[in-house]
Amino acid sequence: MKCFHYCKDKTRTRVQRSAPILNYETSLSISNDVSTKNRVVKSSGSVYSPRGIVELYEEKGGKLKVFTYAELRQATNDFARLRKIGEGGFGCVYKGSIKNNINGDDGDLILVAVKKLNRDGFQGHKQWVAEVQFLGVVDHPNLVKLIGYCAVDGERGIQRLLVYEFMPNKSLEDHLFRNSHEALPWKRRLQIMLGAAQGLAYLHEELEAQVIFRDFKTSNILLDEDFNPKLSDFGLAREGPTEGNTHVSTAVMGTNGYAAPDYIETGHLTAKSDVWSFGIVLYEILTGRRSLERNRPKEDQMLLDWVRRHPIDSKKFGFILDPRLESQYSLTDARKIAKLADSCLLKSAKDRPKMSQVVESLKQILQASSEESPSSKSVERVEDEPEELAENSKPAEVSESSKRRLAQLAKLSEHVGGFTKKGFMIMHRAKVS
Ligand SMILES: Nc1ncnc2c1ncn2[C@@H]1O[C@H](COP(=O)(O)OP(=O)(O)OP(=O)(O)O)[C@@H](O)[C@H]1O
Ligand SMILES: [Mg+2]
Repeated sequence: MKCFHYCKDKTRTRVQRSAPILNYETSLSISNDVSTKNRVVKSSGSVYSPRGIVELYEEKGGKLKVFTYAELRQATNDFARLRKIGEGGFGCVYKGSIKNNINGDDGDLILVAVKKLNRDGFQGHKQWVAEVQFLGVVDHPNLVKLIGYCAVDGERGIQRLLVYEFMPNKSLEDHLFRNSHEALPWKRRLQIMLGAAQGLAYLHEELEAQVIFRDFKTSNILLDEDFNPKLSDFGLAREGPTEGNTHVSTAVMGTNGYAAPDYIETGHLTAKSDVWSFGIVLYEILTGRRSLERNRPKEDQMLLDWVRRHPIDSKKFGFILDPRLESQYSLTDARKIAKLADSCLLKSAKDRPKMSQVVESLKQILQASSEESPSSKSVERVEDEPEELAENSKPAEVSESSKRRLAQLAKLSEHVGGFTKKGFMIMHRAKVS
């Protein structure tokens, strides 16, 4: 996938600061809108004084290793085509190996994923810095680990690279929507939902500075060797509102089909925008269908429109469940998940649950599910509307649906009155593979 960004953000009023430590020559203003404005300054130690990401990065960012370009060329066999494992809006991703000598000894080789920015310009650089800053600060089993980075400004232009721990089981998107991958069993799906929710809850509620992920979607949920989910891609992440503010005013960025409608309409970003995206992903996991599929009949293109015609407490509900699950699921649990998804998708952001509440609900569902004996599983046979079941069995055409998923988010904003288009980040993406 390629991704082009045109920043027309004129809404930013916050203080711009340079990232600490990343003091190479062409360091741009890269604060990712991180600000110390409105923070309550600690004087005696008794006043609450949360630090922002920049301050936290000053303390914790030193753990990141700074690689030379030559080291990463060697690690990836000169960015060989055979080593390429993916491509996204930022650039190509390569599998590589480096010596694990973080403790100073001559360590074993470890596998890494090396992401290489494929274009110059402010936007790519800004995303690269955001990734370094946020991943330099966070530490959680459900967030991908950044091992280090490389920034070179040479005669041949700038090079920006990121080095991550290698995730051998690709992304949730690959497993849900590509028939080349085996279908994920029901239990594993529940565990992935829980792990991803825990990652978001940590970002929203457990850090000194709140982090809003802003691009929660199946391709940004990577799976480790045991299929534990880890969120990746912090290029669009933003620090949450500072003391006394309810939201962050921002250019609208994210991916069509996942961004919360209230955020698209107003540009007001809160943690509840991520909660909406989480609700969408819950339905994608339940149904095996993408949030937006333009090759379907018009009334079925939007996943939410389609699932809402199959009410949770009706018999029709069974039709929406992923046929690749082959009835191995508990319909009772599926209904509970759908209800949880609906609460995340409430129109009013403040009515949506916090991610810690979502985590609790998912834990209860998992607990109840593991206590159920196989014979008590309420697998219901759905006997009417077979043509609709057949329709859900149809594998979505990958390239076509990807194009749709990557359509311009800005287009959505065109239908929104009373908000100037200049305030929006236009994301324009095209599928290349
Ligand atoms: N740490 C990693 N370990 C293993 N594979 C990875 C890792 N990071 C990324 N990949 C692979 O590279 C692919 C591309 O990732 P990338 O985040 O660049 O793009 P994307 O998520 O598909 O699209 P977008 O630009 O919209 O986020 C992923 O789908 C995954 O298969
Ligand atoms: Mg990604």
